[in-house]
Amino acid sequence: MAEVVLRIRLGRPDDARAVAALVRRVTRRWIVPDQPPEAGLALLSRQGAAAQRLRMQEGHRFHLAWLGDTLAGVATLRDDSHLTQLFVGTRYHGRGIARRLWRRAMADAVRRAGTRRFTLNASRCAVPAYLRLGFVATGPEQFSPNGVLTTPMALERAPERRERA
Ligand SMILES: CC(C)(COP(=O)(O)OP(=O)(O)OC[C@H]1O[C@@H](n2cnc3c(N)ncnc32)[C@H](O)[C@@H]1OP(=O)(O)O)[C@@H](O)C(=O)NCCC(=O)NCCS
Repeated sequence: MAEVVLRIRLGRPDDARAVAALVRRVTRRWIVPDQPPEAGLALLSRQGAAAQRLRMQEGHRFHLAWLGDTLAGVATLRDDSHLTQLFVGTRYHGRGIARRLWRRAMADAVRRAGTRRFTLNASRCAVPAYLRLGFVATGPEQFSPNGVLTTPMALERAPERRERA
């Protein structure tokens, strides 16, 4: 059987339900177990379809990875610089989908805003993957203002080399 090709495209408001379903399913499995119970519930409550749609309307950039008509992953950037969501469906982990989504999201932000510094707050289970993507921790694991336990991380792009005349 022919292999299904991964396609990445920008999200639009009518994708909000599919995004919410994927993000909440992956969060329940991988993030909630490392959080205090109230923080896990609060996190899930901020990931519903209405909240995702609102973020799209507010200009957050959603990059969606599709395998056929199945949503396999999502990356969301706020202000072309802060990665607020990076989720890949559990059955698709370890296939390079997060790396491809991140590359696409970063290139889009660089093109739109010339971004040099990217930031995120990593869940415990995602720290090793972000290190592989080039992020470094900028502080210890800590509770964010909304009570979620995360590690602040950043990636600085190297300055572009100018060709000598
Ligand atoms: C973190 C996550 C997005 C990674 O997605 P993925 O598609 O499996 O990642 P990739 O296959 O693209 O891997 C990217 C790199 O990270 C590495 N990596 C991925 N998961 C890893 C792990 N658990 N431990 C160590 N390295 C890991 C890969 O080896 C790869 O590095 P390489 O290309 O240099 O070999 C995915 O595991 C996930 O959705 N986790 C749960 C949700 C979550 O915590 N999201 C982050 C919220 S802050």
